[in-house]
Amino acid sequence: MFEAAPITATDKPTLYAELAQQARGLLHGETNLVANAANFAALVYHALPDINWCGFYFPDGDGLVVGPFQGKPACVRIAHGRGVCGAAAVSRQTQVVPDVYAFPDHIFCDGASRSEIVVPLVRADGSLLGVWDVDSPNLARFDDDDRAGMEALCAEFMRAAAQ
Ligand code: SME
Repeated sequence: MFEAAPITATDKPTLYAELAQQARGLLHGETNLVANAANFAALVYHALPDINWCGFYFPDGDGLVVGPFQGKPACVRIAHGRGVCGAAAVSRQTQVVPDVYAFPDHIFCDGASRSEIVVPLVRADGSLLGVWDVDSPNLARFDDDDRAGMEALCAEFMRAAAQ
């Protein structure tokens, strides 16, 4: 059974490097998307400080539908292009929102969320697998180190998904 080693890093780049290594081990040899998404969300939720929700949204119909996550129950469906998740899905660019109250189209799922990062998950052929969304109760929780670290983590998830 996989057992996550305690994360010892105090600086973000090292923390994300350790986490990416753990994600690689956790997902290795498994291609089931739901299984990998669920374990990935659990790994990150318990490893990163100051987050209150993390999980996936996948394309469904015209918009997105919630996938495996950790945290309080979330909005089930997000219409095309709406919210931070929709912006990430449409632009194919990671969205870092330091203050969700200052993002006009932010969709509140958990009133405790104050900042958010959403990474688009784009397949090699350019199609969208989904988005990875992480929320924090702290203002400006996510910076450029989180953007780079979270994108590297998501690359591990995509590597497993492409097997
Ligand atoms: N805040 C997101 C919606 C998803 S929840 O945070 C889980 C958004 O604006 O897209």
